[in-house]
Amino acid sequence: MGSQLPVEFPSSLRVFGEHRSIRYFLRQPLAVGHLHLIVEAGRRAPTDAQGHMYAFLRITDADLRDRLATLCADQQHIRDAAEFYVVCLDVYRLRQLVELRGGEWGMRERISLIYGATDATMVAQNMVVAAEALGYGTCYIGAVQNNTDVIAEELALPEGVLPLYGLCIGVIDPAMMPDLKPRVPRTLCFFENGYPTGFSTDELQSAYDVMSPKRDWYTALGSYFADGGTMQKREPIMARAWRRQGLDPQPE
Ligand SMILES: Cc1cc2nc3c(=O)[nH]c(=O)nc-3n(C[C@H](O)[C@H](O)[C@H](O)COP(=O)(O)O)c2cc1C
Repeated sequence: MGSQLPVEFPSSLRVFGEHRSIRYFLRQPLAVGHLHLIVEAGRRAPTDAQGHMYAFLRITDADLRDRLATLCADQQHIRDAAEFYVVCLDVYRLRQLVELRGGEWGMRERISLIYGATDATMVAQNMVVAAEALGYGTCYIGAVQNNTDVIAEELALPEGVLPLYGLCIGVIDPAMMPDLKPRVPRTLCFFENGYPTGFSTDELQSAYDVMSPKRDWYTALGSYFADGGTMQKREPIMARAWRRQGLDPQPE
């Protein structure tokens, strides 16, 4: 099957084929019992070494939600969504559990960062799929990284807990339903028995062709990943947050 053929998902997998990030929510709560189901779906995610290295902070205080939205590039959907979580990696609780039984804490910063981010993301994505299967819209908020250090302070997070991103879950405004966004060609991301020796200009251009149905994909890539872009600006903020949360692999 060619990588760019439209995929006909069977009904049991339709939730994946229908995914799009939602940025316009009706100001309505989730149906009774649905948040519980979404959270339980999250909790069923696998967890590395049974460490459960995550903490999800549900933000129900309207003033706090508003301040966080402002800190996250002033994104209105953070205010409008029925639910908003700050998703954190968390080795604070794990350390306490180990020390409770007399173990000396042996996990260092690099492993904490990678494993904690992995564990938290599995829970978050389970919640996204569950919420979307129930008909809700979701949107991750990476702009938490615009002010990670300030947000960690605002939320009084202890050492070993680091905000990764936010997660909006809410009732979709049907009048503002976005189109499905394309994906990078499969041949550039899924490989067999090893990594390719390189990518030809044609192959790279094919990604731009697919990813630019309305506007040039480089508008996004350049503004995020090129010199002077968002990711570069986030680097010192992340360094400060890692230090503050006791997760800097190379503390001064
Ligand atoms: C870790 C992460 C952070 C994101 N941060 C934001 C964000 O701050 N604001 C936003 O509106 N969308 C955010 N998104 C959504 C992406 O823009 C979106 O997933 C991408 O454009 C692909 O579109 P789709 O999800 O509709 O398929 C984020 C997605 C991820 C996975």
